[in-house]
Amino acid sequence: MKIHLLLVIIGTYAAIVLAQTQEGFISLDCGLPIEESPYDNEFNGLTFTSDSTFIQTGKSGRVHKDLNDVLSKQYLTLRYFPEGKRNCYSLDVKPDTKYLIAVSSVYGNYDGLNLDPNFDIYIGPNKWISINLKGRPNGTLDEIIHKSMSNSLDICLVKTGTTSPIISAIEIRPLRDNTYVSQSGSLRLSFRVYLNNSDGFIRYPDDVRDRIWNPFFGSSYSQITTNLNINNSNAYEVPKTALQSAATPRNASGPLVITWNPKPSNAQVYLYMHFAEIQTLEANEIREFDFILKGNFNHSGFSPTKLKVFTLFTEVPMQCDSGDCRLELVRTPKSILPPLINALEAYTVIEFPKLETSPSDVGKGDPCLPKDWSWENLRCSYVDLSTPPQIVSLKNEELEDIKRSNFCIISALNFFWDASSARIVAFSERIVAFSERIVVFCSSNAPIRSSLSCLTKKEEEG
Ligand SMILES: *[C@@H]1O[C@H](CO)[C@@H](O)[C@H](O)[C@H]1NC(C)=O
Ligand SMILES: *[C@@H]1O[C@H](CO)[C@@H](O)[C@H](O)[C@H]1NC(C)=O
Ligand SMILES: *[C@@H]1O[C@H](CO)[C@@H](O)[C@H](O)[C@H]1NC(C)=O
Ligand SMILES: *[C@@H]1O[C@H](CO)[C@@H](O)[C@H](O)[C@H]1NC(C)=O
Ligand SMILES: *[C@@H]1O[C@H](CO)[C@@H](O)[C@H](O)[C@H]1NC(C)=O
Repeated sequence: MKIHLLLVIIGTYAAIVLAQTQEGFISLDCGLPIEESPYDNEFNGLTFTSDSTFIQTGKSGRVHKDLNDVLSKQYLTLRYFPEGKRNCYSLDVKPDTKYLIAVSSVYGNYDGLNLDPNFDIYIGPNKWISINLKGRPNGTLDEIIHKSMSNSLDICLVKTGTTSPIISAIEIRPLRDNTYVSQSGSLRLSFRVYLNNSDGFIRYPDDVRDRIWNPFFGSSYSQITTNLNINNSNAYEVPKTALQSAATPRNASGPLVITWNPKPSNAQVYLYMHFAEIQTLEANEIREFDFILKGNFNHSGFSPTKLKVFTLFTEVPMQCDSGDCRLELVRTPKSILPPLINALEAYTVIEFPKLETSPSDVGKGDPCLPKDWSWENLRCSYVDLSTPPQIVSLKNEELEDIKRSNFCIISALNFFWDASSARIVAFSERIVAFSERIVVFCSSNAPIRSSLSCLTKKEEEG
C-alpha cells in the first residue's frame, strides 16, 4: 500500500467551519513569529499558534519562497536547532490521557544549503522515530497514539549527524480512552485510509478528532458510494464522509485483498476496520464475508449494518507472516454480494520502556533522560530501566557560572539537595536554593519552561 503524506494544499475540499470545538487541541506552527500568532488555518479553520512559548531554544527559519504557494501555511516556517544535542518542547497536557500526536518537518531549503537534515524525535526519554528528509521535498508527517503520564509532554529533537534538526508543526489531539487500546506500548501509525478513488484527504472538521484520512484505492477494486447520511456513532467517531464510499473486489466472486509491509517487519500490528453497508439491498440480497489476516486473525460471517458504522479491530497485537501483512475479505458461500470495506487504520506497537525522571525531581522537561543525551554537565544517577533516574549534582564552577549569568538552570520546579534523604527534592518556589551539594535554582525572571534551554544558553554564553 502506497500512502503519501499530503502536506500540500492540492486536492483539499473540506469547507471552513467556524466556531467548531477544538477542545484540547494543540496546534503549533513552529518558527511562527509571535506577532503573526494566532491565525486560523484556511484549509479547515483550525487555530494555529506560534511555538515560541513552549521552547526557548532553536531559531526560526522560513522555507524557500517558491514553496509559498505549494505548502499549507503551517509548513512555511520552521524551527531549527543548530545548538545542543537535544532540544525539547514541553507541552501542557492532561495526565493519563490518550493523545494523537502528529509532528511534521519540511526542509524547504530554508538555509539555502540544499542539505536535507536527518535527526531523531523522542517522546520524553524514549526514541520515537528517525527522520531523514532526503528525497522528501514535501516533508514528513509522523503520528503516534500515546498516553501522557503526567501533565507535561516532552517532544525532543535530537541531533544524530551534522545537520540541524528541524520541525514545522506539532499537532496534538485528545482521543477517547476506550479507543485504540493496546496491551502495551504506544501505537505508531502505519496508515489511515478511506476507500475512495479520489485525491482529497479528510480531516477536521469532518473528523472531530482531526485524524488524517488519506484516500486509497487498489486497481483490483471497484467503488461504491452513497450520498445518504451514515450513522457514525461509535467510540471511533469515523467521519461520515469517509464512510460514504467503499471498495468491493472488481472480481465479485474473489476476495478483497489489502497488503502492506509493517516497519519493522516483525512489528506487532493493530488493525481497525470500519464498515457500513452503503448499497440498497433487495430483500433476498445478503452481503456476508470472513476476514483473514494471514493465519492470525479470523472473524467469520460478518455483515455490515445498513448506513451505520461498525468497527472491527484486533484486540491483541498480531505479527504478520515474514513482514507481509495480507488482509483478505472473503465472501461466504451464502453471500449474494461481494465483501466491502469503507475505511481502515493500521498501527504498530512501539514500546517506550524508559521511565520519566521521578516526578519530584522534575516538573517539566526531563534533564536526566535519555541517558545518551542528558544535559551536559548535569550528572544523573541511572540504576536500571525501572528506577527513575535522579539528578545528582553539578560541578561547583558551573554553579558559579550560572549564578553569575541571569538565567535558570532547571526550571519549572526547583530542586535542592536534601541531605537526609540524600536526594534532590523539588522546591516549590522559584528561588535559588543553594547548599553544599546543590543543584538548582532559577534566576528571578527566567521563564518557567526554559528547562533545557538554560544549559544550552550556558554553552552559548560560556
Ligand atoms: C510533492 O508534492 C507535489 C505537489 O503535490 C507533487 O507533485 C510531488 O510529486 C510531491 N513529491 C513527492 C516526492 O512526493
Ligand atoms: C469519493 O468518490 C466519489 C466518486 O468519485 C466522490 O464524488 C467523492 O467526493 C469522494 N469522497 C470524498 C470524501 O472525497
Ligand atoms: C445512531 O446509532 C446510535 C447507536 O446505535 C443510536 O443510539 C442513535 O439513535 C443513532 N442515530 C441516529 C440519528 O439514528
Ligand atoms: C474471480 O475469483 C474467483 C474466486 O477466487 C476465481 O476462481 C476466478 O478465476 C476469478 N476470476 C478472474 C477473472 O480473475
Ligand atoms: C484462521 O483460519 C486459517 C485458515 O482458515 C487457519 O489456518 C488459522 O488457524 C485460523 N486462525 C485463527 C487464529 O483462528
